[in-house]
Amino acid sequence: MRKESPLLRWLRWIVAVAALLLVGFVIGWFARPTSSHVQGDGTSSQYLRKFLDEMKASNIREHLRKFTRLPHLAGTKQNLVYAEQIREEWLSFGLDSVEMVPYDVLLSYPNKSQPNYISIVDQLGNEVFNTSLAEPVPDGYEGVADIIPPYSAFSPKGQPEGELVYVNYGRTEDFFQLKREMGINVTGKIVIVRYGKIFRGNKVKNAMLAGAKGIIMFSDPADYSAVGVQPYPDGWNLPGGGAQRGNVLNLNGAGDPLTPGYPAKEYTYRSNLEDGVGLPKIPVHPIGYHDAMHLLKNMGGRLPPNNWKGALNVSYSIGPGFTDTFRTQ
Ligand SMILES: *[C@@H]1O[C@H](CO)[C@@H](O)[C@H](O)[C@H]1NC(C)=O
Ligand SMILES: *[C@@H]1O[C@H](CO)[C@@H](O)[C@H](O)[C@H]1NC(C)=O
Ligand SMILES: *[C@@H]1O[C@H](CO)[C@@H](O)[C@H](O)[C@H]1NC(C)=O
Ligand SMILES: *[C@@H]1O[C@H](CO)[C@@H](O)[C@H](O)[C@H]1NC(C)=O
Repeated sequence: MRKESPLLRWLRWIVAVAALLLVGFVIGWFARPTSSHVQGDGTSSQYLRKFLDEMKASNIREHLRKFTRLPHLAGTKQNLVYAEQIREEWLSFGLDSVEMVPYDVLLSYPNKSQPNYISIVDQLGNEVFNTSLAEPVPDGYEGVADIIPPYSAFSPKGQPEGELVYVNYGRTEDFFQLKREMGINVTGKIVIVRYGKIFRGNKVKNAMLAGAKGIIMFSDPADYSAVGVQPYPDGWNLPGGGAQRGNVLNLNGAGDPLTPGYPAKEYTYRSNLEDGVGLPKIPVHPIGYHDAMHLLKNMGGRLPPNNWKGALNVSYSIGPGFTDTFRTQ
């Protein structure tokens, strides 16, 4: 296994920060109302003026709308259509050449005819509650195909069963507190954690290291809702049916799991799937806070420390497992 050296990472940061500073400086310099300090070549300042005139909220809104209107997961037809569109636009803006360079990277897609879900199983083995298979379709999107159901990219297949344990944000310190202060062992359990504070792939890694069989992640309104804003479509807050997608790798920026640290080209040495770097070993699934309510409100066991509580109207009890007075409604 290879890891990026800390020095290289620092260098990247320094270059990125320097580039940002330069852009900020250029914008600040030329955005000044008088341009008396611009000397010499008037043409370049004209270009900059033109560039700055283009930077309007309405233009940014229009571009964002154009490229976010349709689902365009990596590797899909629509993503290629957007890439080609960007290429055409950049050429029309006057760039001399814009090249599209293909890479062959690993990515997982959900099974559309059998999407993932979490269920609560009673003693007889009946699935008495299931999380939603898809998000509610917003107005105007009824005809849009290829909306990918919520999933965590690179999660392995599996149907683990076990008692549920709530572990706050799933950070190292949360698992530590669970074990040391609360004496709860998650070996063989399924953990549920809220999104936020750290990268989701690290939550999965922490759950694996703690011995969990599976992990559920949800977006809590405490972390994903601005005060005084309505959920979409009435406002821009995340609605209760919305689930955060994304990859759950532990690659530390090494790129593709099968060609870590190298470009994923046909000539690059490629590992087998079993040897892929950073791939999680336990099933992972994301849900929205409406579904999370149903799981959390039934949790038994001890009460959480105050800073483990989110904004849902539940106790955030830690478990393991549910109370005897179980409610599906
Ligand atoms: C997707 O699910 C269907 C229905 O259960 C199954 O027949 C099919 O084999 C699955 N596809 C993959 C790639 O696992
Ligand atoms: C959950 O889904 C399973 C499999 O499709 C189904 O058998 C079960 O009845 C569902 N349970 C509920 C409460 O909808
Ligand atoms: C946690 O539980 C597992 C399985 O029951 C057991 O093997 C392990 O020793 C336990 N760990 C601790 C720290 O008690
Ligand atoms: C919170 O939940 C309790 C118990 O289910 C309920 O009585 C109360 O009305 C709820 N509060 C709000 C603000 O929804």
